[in-house]
Amino acid sequence: MKHVNCGTYREMSRQAAGCVAELLREKPEALLCFAAGTTPMGLFEELIQMQARAEVDMTRAWFAGLDEWVGLGPADAGSCIQVMFDSFYTPAGIPRDHIHVFDGMAADMTRECRVMEKWIADHGGIELTVLGIGMNGHIGFNEPGVPETRGCVVVDLDEVTKAISVKYFGKQIPVHQGVSIGMDLLSSAPEVILLADGVKKAPIVAATLSGPVTCRVPSSLLQKHPRAVLLTDADAAGLLPNLD
Ligand code: F6R
Repeated sequence: MKHVNCGTYREMSRQAAGCVAELLREKPEALLCFAAGTTPMGLFEELIQMQARAEVDMTRAWFAGLDEWVGLGPADAGSCIQVMFDSFYTPAGIPRDHIHVFDGMAADMTRECRVMEKWIADHGGIELTVLGIGMNGHIGFNEPGVPETRGCVVVDLDEVTKAISVKYFGKQIPVHQGVSIGMDLLSSAPEVILLADGVKKAPIVAATLSGPVTCRVPSSLLQKHPRAVLLTDADAAGLLPNLD
């Protein structure tokens, strides 16, 4: 995995947006998969501005939702579907039928997984994924200890993830499971971009890049990916052995 210290959050977001735009110039109908969460908000703003300036056209691309809290839906502020539609899909003008997301309120989560796997396969596989890194190294909801499962997964949430969920919901709400595109499907994307910013992410960035490859730190599994790139700001790169 390559690391680029972009210096600032703004520059990190710009570089990620540049990669997305470059891919879409070459493959306008590519299938993309973006994480929700705090980290990619700057990327979304950059992309929306670039589209307004006609520097990128995202309206022909396809989008698979990375993950969802089981039990939550669009009416729940902080759910992945609410965050992604309000922060990205809607302002970016992505046609609704170009988006497939997990229904966190579905009665049958296993079926949700199979439906997502089929949708991804029907759209040629994920071409580029932009991922955040959890404080515990999770990727999507691939929590520490989750094996490199095939396809999509329903996962019991790690205690760290439950505690951190407060930042999305403004209060502690009972979340126990997540549904997520699994590590193997994400790793099969030819292009993988990981984003991390802020001093609080410095320890997990160091573990991701220079720690052992272990399912205890799911983000470290991407060390094996030939084209994965980790973009950080200077703070998140602060504990790396050799600053670049
Ligand atoms: C969100 C997701 C999570 C986040 C990760 C980092 O869809 O899949 O894995 O990317 O928890 O979250 P932030 O960016 O809020 O620090």
